[in-house]
Amino acid sequence: MESSTEMGAATAVHDASLGKEIVRRINELGAISEETDKLTRIYLSKELRAAADLILGWMREAGMSAHLDAIGNVCGRYEGERPGAPCLMLGSHYDTVRDAGKWDGPLGVITAIACVADLNRRGKRLPFAIEVIGFADEEGVRFASTLLGSRAVAGTFDESVLNTRDRDGVSMRDALVAFGLDPDHIGAAARARRELLAYLELHIEQGPVLEAQNLPVGVVTAIAGATRLAARLTGMAGHAGTVPMALRRDALAGAAECIGAIEQFCRTDAGGLVGTVGYIQARPGATNVIPGEVSFTIDMRAATDMHRKRAVADVVRQIEAIAKRRHLALQLDVTHENRTAPCAPWLKDQIAQAIAAEGASVFELPSGAGHDGMAMIDIADVGMIFVRCRGGISHHPDEHVELADADAGARVLLRVIENFRPQEGRAGANC
Ligand code: GLV
Ligand code: MN
Ligand code: MN
Repeated sequence: MESSTEMGAATAVHDASLGKEIVRRINELGAISEETDKLTRIYLSKELRAAADLILGWMREAGMSAHLDAIGNVCGRYEGERPGAPCLMLGSHYDTVRDAGKWDGPLGVITAIACVADLNRRGKRLPFAIEVIGFADEEGVRFASTLLGSRAVAGTFDESVLNTRDRDGVSMRDALVAFGLDPDHIGAAARARRELLAYLELHIEQGPVLEAQNLPVGVVTAIAGATRLAARLTGMAGHAGTVPMALRRDALAGAAECIGAIEQFCRTDAGGLVGTVGYIQARPGATNVIPGEVSFTIDMRAATDMHRKRAVADVVRQIEAIAKRRHLALQLDVTHENRTAPCAPWLKDQIAQAIAAEGASVFELPSGAGHDGMAMIDIADVGMIFVRCRGGISHHPDEHVELADADAGARVLLRVIENFRPQEGRAGANC
């Protein structure tokens, strides 16, 4: 039996109203883009600001107080029975990659708001507050470093990132000012561990596993760690017609060899290692000029931190050897390093109970993609719910979640919220 219908049959008759509202808002938010024919909403762009204003309005409509924090996160709070109680924080991100799908990030923010709106309609208050947060930068597209929004909330934001520049030479510091924020006050976004009972995130799976299992939702076990590097190879630009092949120091040919080596290394790894060169720029960039300088990025992930670290060290050795042999100068910097973040067993249990209560099979799976929970784990236990993704396609405009699955995810999240029990023995557990 198809699980989504299984879930519907197990609960009171419902009209998928949560799912309908979520899909409507996903489309509305997905229309806010820097490009007319594709979805691109990069950190601190004016489109991100428009998206923030839209989400803040939805939060207020749902009965929350709402504000933009010091790094551009949208933050909503729905008080509990007693004002000022610690919160269950629900979140995801509202920035996108370039030429993105509509669901990666916004699904979690919009679903959380839909759940609070449902409680508010019923006049229901809980023994704890609920906060919904839309992180302004999870993807890290603009300033090389990632998880900028959630790191600020976790109090682990690295101030040196303020001096990094985007492709157009704009520093993060200047971009914050243009957005209406004060770069010297990012610390104000930080939250204390005692304020949070847990951090929960609902997210599109971005892979094919739930679809293969014929399940609408799943319980995430851990978020795989990642390392990102920025490489620059410098050779010698020259005339494409006059310099004999043996005398060239072609930076792009060197980069191509590095990319091939990375792919080959990851392909032949038996442990599921993945490596991606997702961005490359060759200078000066003319048909008849030998490229003198090339910059490219490397993203590497594996199921365990030890595996990833060993693999990164190996790849670095290979790139150094290629550069040396080709007489290219190499600069290689780690721009982002995130360890694997395990989801808390007590939160996995509560998510599993909600899924079972909705009538679906409980299925656990790890996340190969990165999420804000990787930063939030520094101040709270983390739980994640995955929602089935059509065809396993993500970071692509064809990314899609069926309305019934969006509805199923929302019902599971709502059930987790309404039955939420803080971890035994934790300060605030008796709130
Ligand atoms: C975020 O989408 C990532 O995993 O790169
Ligand atoms: Mn995401
Ligand atoms: Mn993403």
